Amino acid sequence: MAAKAAYVLLLLGLAARGPAGAAKMKVVEEPNTFGMNNLFVPQSSRLQPRREPAPVSGPEHLFRLAGKCFSLVESMYKYEFCPFHNVTQHEQTFRWNAYSGILGIWQEWEITNNTFAGMWMKDGDSCRSRSRQSKVELTCGKSNRLAHVSEPSTCVYSLTFETPLVCHPHSLLVYPALPEALQQRWDQVEQDLADELITPQGYEKLLRAIFEDAGYLMTPGENGPVLQEGAPAGLGFETLETCRKAHAELSKEVKRLRSLLAQHGIRHAKPTGTSSSEHLAHDTPTDRPPVQPRGDPGLRGSFL
Ligand SMILES: *[C@@H]1O[C@H](CO)[C@@H](O)[C@H](O)[C@H]1NC(C)=O
Ligand SMILES: *[C@@H]1O[C@H](CO)[C@@H](O)[C@H](O)[C@H]1NC(C)=O
Repeated sequence: MAAKAAYVLLLLGLAARGPAGAAKMKVVEEPNTFGMNNLFVPQSSRLQPRREPAPVSGPEHLFRLAGKCFSLVESMYKYEFCPFHNVTQHEQTFRWNAYSGILGIWQEWEITNNTFAGMWMKDGDSCRSRSRQSKVELTCGKSNRLAHVSEPSTCVYSLTFETPLVCHPHSLLVYPALPEALQQRWDQVEQDLADELITPQGYEKLLRAIFEDAGYLMTPGENGPVLQEGAPAGLGFETLETCRKAHAELSKEVKRLRSLLAQHGIRHAKPTGTSSSEHLAHDTPTDRPPVQPRGDPGLRGSFL
């Protein structure tokens, strides 16, 4: 009620003062009035996330950053990084329809050399046929601070976040962050590689599976269609029967892994969509829906 009254007063004020009253808008544009629930922001510039952020994951000492936001004003824009949630951009102007946009929603870690190398925020506002995305690098600094934002390629943003939380040389190592059960799996994978029971490629695959099970990396197919650049093509089956068989085996494996996770109290992302076994029973390869073009937001639109 109070908000509504303030809004009406503001409108009256603007109407009475004419252009000079525009300075009043500054009052409305306070940092935490941005966002979806703000009645003051006209519908067209409200931020509409396409999906929920992924669960908080990674090194536990970074979890305290969840729910906080850090901003950087650079030329005409204010950038805001909310760890484990989103990256947004707000045009710094008093125009009623100032542009605000989502540059990414928390999705997964980038892991290189068994180190948490960056946070990927994806599925931001659309940008031509794709969606905006941001990679946030964490570097050691005296205080928590969004230090730098750039756009190395169109609609892909690169952010640098400084924090004392990553100054210890081991603070971003993956292994110590893992629950014990997954550490043991990793140990076994190392052993198998040393014993030449698996190939280096097999090793990479098994490690990736461990990172997925830990919730650090998104499981392919978990979040809508997997049509990302560089996805391996030709994952086909000769016959429907072999596909069914593989599906049954995978379902069994998923069930086993789920109970293992539950047993150890490890959080994991829930699969989206309906039971695929139902589809499997009715679908033949010829009546599949047409493949969405790369980056088409159509299917993802269902998250709205
Ligand atoms: C971005 O994250 C912050 C912090 O968790 C949240 O308050 C805000 O609503 C989010 N914005 C959008 C557009 O989702
Ligand atoms: C990989 O990580 C180890 C341990 O943190 C480090 O000593 C090494 O320099 C890193 N290698 C590369 C290529 O980054």
